[in-house]
Amino acid sequence: MSILFASRGDDPQAWETALREAGCTLPFTAELPSAPDPAIRYLLTWQPPARLYRNLPGLRAIFSLGAGVDHLFENGPPPGDIPIIRLRDAGMAGQMSEYALWAVIGHHRQMHAYRRRQQERRWAPLPARPAAKIRVLVLGLGVLGEAVANTVRAQGYSVSGWARRPREIAGIDCLHGQAALATALGQTDVLINLLPLTAETRGMIASTLFARLKPGACFVNIARGAHVVERDLLQALDSGVIDHAVLDVFAEEPLPEQHPFWTHPGIIVTPHIAAQTLTGPSARQIAENIALLEAGGTPDGLVSREQGY
Ligand code: NAP
Ligand code: GLV
Repeated sequence: MSILFASRGDDPQAWETALREAGCTLPFTAELPSAPDPAIRYLLTWQPPARLYRNLPGLRAIFSLGAGVDHLFENGPPPGDIPIIRLRDAGMAGQMSEYALWAVIGHHRQMHAYRRRQQERRWAPLPARPAAKIRVLVLGLGVLGEAVANTVRAQGYSVSGWARRPREIAGIDCLHGQAALATALGQTDVLINLLPLTAETRGMIASTLFARLKPGACFVNIARGAHVVERDLLQALDSGVIDHAVLDVFAEEPLPEQHPFWTHPGIIVTPHIAAQTLTGPSARQIAENIALLEAGGTPDGLVSREQGY
């Protein structure tokens, strides 16, 4: 019985050490099997290579090395009914909250406008605005969206959140359904995307949604690039519907060198770092879940294949 680690660009040694420190004693390998290996019981992966599963006949669970699981479906769904388990927070909620708060404060304090004025050597103060007048809408009220909504709310901003099902979070105006979203967009100063990438959410941030936004809004994408129709975003920026966008994720990553986002004056680009996977806390969560599975229990972070998140 062993663990297979399959994630290009990650240091397997660091993960093995972290799992050992978390009390997991199962044999660990990062060598992809070239023939069926029934001993491999758990797969820890980010963007698994195609055809990996055919050599894993004894697989009992797939662990995503991130909060999102869309990467597991890129080469078709993982086989059978093998449980898929994702990271829940594991140190990401704090990072996400910092990033989102930075973007919200940047818009509130009009840093983008001052940056433009600086380039023109123009000394031109803008009127102050109270935080409570800035309306923030968080798409997705899951582990990360809820943490972001609460952090931004704690700084005095007016926060709404949108989820698939009705939710109740103190101090947050929780919405669901397309009609509620359409109404909220018209009052939104900062739109933050924290949805999972699923069949329902792919491409949903497009011209119709941008057209409903309050003119001059800021768009923050810290979920997945494929939620957004990129040419519609460029159009919304160029027509002034959106004042500026803060983008951490892209349809193609790394963002190609010739991509217009790199040089657009209304866009801030970061390289998918809003919330990075932290080896220590993530390994502890995975080790706990492996222990639960070995004891016949239900792991935390189980993904619904039907919903895709
Ligand atoms: P989560 O706990 O699964 O939360 C997902 C939220 O989205 C839930 O509130 C869910 O609604 C809502 N949702 C799903 N489908 C919806 C739909 N069709 N309409 C409306 N709401 C919908 O996920 P999480 O842990 O917060 O992570 C969110 C995403 O962040 C991940 O999937 C990943 O793509 C992204 N991420 C990005 C980075 C980065 O560095 N940029 C890092 C980590 C994660 P219900 O509450 O009703 O179920
Ligand atoms: C990162 O994008 C993640 O899903 O954890």
